[in-house]
Amino acid sequence: MDTLALAKALPKAELHIHIEGSLEPELIFALAQRNGVSLAYASVDALREAYAFTDLQSFLDIYYAGASVLLKEDDFFDMAWAYFEKAKADNVVHAELFFDPQTHTERGVDMGVVIGGLKRACEKAEQDLGISSALILCFLRHLSEDEAFATLEAAMPYRDAFIGVGLDSSEVGHPPSKFSRVFARCRELGLHIVAHAGEEGPPAYIWEALDDLKVERIDHGVRCLEDDKLVMQLARTRLPLTVCPLSNLKLCVVDDMKDHPLKRLLHAGLCATVNSDDPAYFGGYMNANFEACVNALGLNRAEVVQLVRNSFEASFVEEGRRAALMASVDAMLASS
Ligand code: HPA
Ligand code: ZN
Repeated sequence: MDTLALAKALPKAELHIHIEGSLEPELIFALAQRNGVSLAYASVDALREAYAFTDLQSFLDIYYAGASVLLKEDDFFDMAWAYFEKAKADNVVHAELFFDPQTHTERGVDMGVVIGGLKRACEKAEQDLGISSALILCFLRHLSEDEAFATLEAAMPYRDAFIGVGLDSSEVGHPPSKFSRVFARCRELGLHIVAHAGEEGPPAYIWEALDDLKVERIDHGVRCLEDDKLVMQLARTRLPLTVCPLSNLKLCVVDDMKDHPLKRLLHAGLCATVNSDDPAYFGGYMNANFEACVNALGLNRAEVVQLVRNSFEASFVEEGRRAALMASVDAMLASS
């Protein structure tokens, strides 16, 4: 098997996927029609043509507009189920899904509708596809910490349905320290803690995510390479980075995939992983991200295997399943 075929075939975990970012244009239009929502675009093609981003904010504006078609529990189920079918095709065997409840509750959609639909899709994925999964509730950092507290409160009746909290949306100008108190409360509640940092924001934001929020993983984090001391700490602690190569290209975090820092991160000893972020918007799901990296960076077999092992090491899966998933990688390597 060549390196790309191996990358595609290996079982892997996806740890950085915004489920609202898996909403394909066709499903956006189908849900708009089902719910009587009018869209600013005349057709699927016209919407797709608008997917020419210059930075994070230019993407977020369209991403939040796309999410406006989600109203009923079945809409959230259908969106997540469509993702799980793509994940299955890419041999993703474990997925930790971000969701943005404030994008929906702000429009009058009940927290129970959002979580209910997503949870049902997760259960069906386990039963029908053998994919284990978990939900991570993200706070929108362009909103206030008080609004994050209100969101946490609204989610408390569904505490068992999600394993952790994250921080996403517009990064620059909204440092992690803005949310220190709400994340402290989340830690008391026993939630896993992650945050987007160092995508567009400086290494100082990664330090804040570590020191103030006490994150267990950094989402993106590619700008850590600008700070040697930070790289050393991330390497020493094996604190994972959930890297999203196609996202970085589409949002102009890197100008060319050949310049993507994934290989540098790996060779610095970091626990870097490959993920799709918002696959419906950025040109592909898990295996498309591996393909772009294998082709542009010339990843070798050992590097691909390391990335896949890192995905299981970095996941919040229960230890027995982590060991079984690692063993399934070994089994495939032994037979390929
Ligand atoms: N960064 C920040 N917020 C987001 C992203 C991202 O890549 N995707 C969806 N929300
Ligand atoms: Zn993201």
